Amino acid sequence: MIPTVEWKEGTVRLLDQRLLPGRVEILECRDYQTVADAIRELRVRGAPAIGVAAAMGVALGAEAVQEAEFMPFQKAVLAICDELGATRPTAVNLFWALERMKGVLAENSHCSAFDLKRLLVEEALRIRQEDLAMNHSIGKHGASLIEDGQCILTHCNAGALATAGYGTALGVVRAAWEQGKKIHVYAEETRPVLQGARLTTWELMQDQIPVTLITDNMAGSLMREGVIHLCLVGADRIAANGDVANKIGTYTVAVLAKAHKIPFFVAAPSSTIDLATPSGDQIPIEQRPAHEVTSLNGGSPIAPKGVHVLNPAFDVTPADLVTAIITERGIFKPSELAATFRL
Ligand code: MRU
Repeated sequence: MIPTVEWKEGTVRLLDQRLLPGRVEILECRDYQTVADAIRELRVRGAPAIGVAAAMGVALGAEAVQEAEFMPFQKAVLAICDELGATRPTAVNLFWALERMKGVLAENSHCSAFDLKRLLVEEALRIRQEDLAMNHSIGKHGASLIEDGQCILTHCNAGALATAGYGTALGVVRAAWEQGKKIHVYAEETRPVLQGARLTTWELMQDQIPVTLITDNMAGSLMREGVIHLCLVGADRIAANGDVANKIGTYTVAVLAKAHKIPFFVAAPSSTIDLATPSGDQIPIEQRPAHEVTSLNGGSPIAPKGVHVLNPAFDVTPADLVTAIITERGIFKPSELAATFRL
């Protein structure tokens, strides 16, 4: 699998996810503004991948800072963090990664700008490495929930493409598949940006994991027919009470799962858990441009010009619809998160 986000020879290399599956192209970012634009334009997307890209963006931006004294150097890097933090509001991994990068500065005020630049690169690489390790661990824990022969419904893309590699929800799928379980994934297309149709099917097909693409409005019918055994999605932010923000349409799947008595699992690393946000009501929901809804994949219009459009990128699934949350530290009920992760 081609890496989603990479640091190579002083540049940030992103697999351009806007072009998939038609074209496999690497976007080479030589300045942090290009990284910020790539996050905003969904060239790199998925909560953990956004965090890794932003951390690398900070390291890249810092490389170009000319200040030699600590205070002006820190001021310049904090301004870069602010710009990267203004790209997308919902995925908390972005802010978590930026805080880690700011922490490097705060803890090393005695260092030269030369050394700080090196330390920032090292921290960004560490964040990437840790994300990969967490995903393998999520996969190991989550695979225990999947039985041989089961069919799994997923929404959006919570795979290798959305992370530093392996994936969260799709990491669980991968781990179950690697254990020899004969499973089948039903991928919802995920209107309006089609992460399910374009990305989830693509990455599962790369690994020869059986996948069937369905439109978003087919899930209820499949559940009623008894085809789906469990639902498995990622998350952009999990509040302290276990409410889960994820791609718009996730809530609908959770309600349907409850109505059909099908388990609804969320897979996410601890970097997605935001104990400072008490409940889903306080999670900021990104509103995206109308053209994403009025055309399909940037193509010709599918709605009258000037029509009023709503385009929230995420929704909140209340904790009581979530069967369990799969993390790198194990599987927890939503109500157990705060106590477990506060420690
Ligand atoms: O708008 P996107 O494509 O960044 O949204 C991605 C999702 O909603 C994912 O499900 C979530 O970030 C989890 S990725 C491991």
